[in-house]
Amino acid sequence: MLHPNATARIDEEAIRALPKAEVHVHLEGTFSLLDLLTLAKENGVPLPGPAATLFDISSHDAFDAPEVTTGGGAGAGSAGLSGFLRFLDWQCGLVRTPAQAARVAYAFAARQSASGIRYSDVIVNPTHWNTWRGRELELLDALAAGLDEADQDGLCRVGMAYSLLRSQSPTEAEDAVAALVAASPRRVVALSVDGDEKVTGRTGEKFQGAFAAAAAAGLHRTVHAGESSGPEGVWDAIDLLQAERIDHGVRSIEDPALIERLIADGITLGVCPRSNVTLGIYPSWAEHPLPRLLDAGVAVTLNTDDPAPLGSTLEADWAVAAQQFGFGHAELVGFAGRSIDASFADPDTKAGLRAELAAHAEAVPA
Ligand code: ADE
Ligand code: ZN
Repeated sequence: MLHPNATARIDEEAIRALPKAEVHVHLEGTFSLLDLLTLAKENGVPLPGPAATLFDISSHDAFDAPEVTTGGGAGAGSAGLSGFLRFLDWQCGLVRTPAQAARVAYAFAARQSASGIRYSDVIVNPTHWNTWRGRELELLDALAAGLDEADQDGLCRVGMAYSLLRSQSPTEAEDAVAALVAASPRRVVALSVDGDEKVTGRTGEKFQGAFAAAAAAGLHRTVHAGESSGPEGVWDAIDLLQAERIDHGVRSIEDPALIERLIADGITLGVCPRSNVTLGIYPSWAEHPLPRLLDAGVAVTLNTDDPAPLGSTLEADWAVAAQQFGFGHAELVGFAGRSIDASFADPDTKAGLRAELAAHAEAVPA
């Protein structure tokens, strides 16, 4: 069933042409099927099932990481998300050398460029990359090398958000941030936390120290919340973790006081409707709260989360949203503008992108 405002499909070419940023996308969710098959062959790792169905979400509950399982937690909770996170463990476990890490980072920047994304924050959760345990800073260095090369080649500029896993202990989180702050690895612009809130319960308090240390060191903060948790996860992200952005945050719609707080504090939500529908947070696009969040006046960006295994691109997701919810060119220019404003890009990059978007909007009127 379509939303009452549904319109004809917007041309993806027009969406690609918009200068924009993406602020909620996981590097772990951008490996193509070809990347995976190549990595598996290079490392002599057998596939867990037929190559053609590796991205089939319904098969992910059967996944175990090749060495250490971390991301999904065990069994209980949102089965779709937990199984999916174990699949990410498996595929990131295939990245074993600095050259392979640089290659997937470079491929990410190329993928973003192909969607007309000019700057991207990318979430990197080292716990998924289980062969790099204890060598997280080396992993970041290898990824930064790939991103540097992409930058030199004129591809999308990328800043990394180092992500804690929701099931880590306070000590693990604080140690990770202390190492990060001491080394100040290039291209790391933010601290993040992701994983399945339904499995772990409320985690705001246990990460308070880690996020405070990140804030004191000048790192930005973005927090997954209000996806598999309700509004309480978003309150904790704001009150306890000093979040500047919320990844997902869609369940904020259930709490009018929280909506007021998001608006008052100028906190942007990094919404990913396809991910929410595919992973079972909402039954369909038509029932997704994106239009209600916009109507309420919340700053919302439109993102992919994990585009490769979800089988999508940013332009495809924007086109579906436009069709479902009746967004025209002006609304899409609005999404592009908010993506730039909400990004953790440096001020010059933001100013340049805003100017390009303004010129584009003038040259291509609605
Ligand atoms: N890591 C990758 N995708 C995620 C999601 N949708 N929620 C929480 N953690 C994630
Ligand atoms: Zn996410």
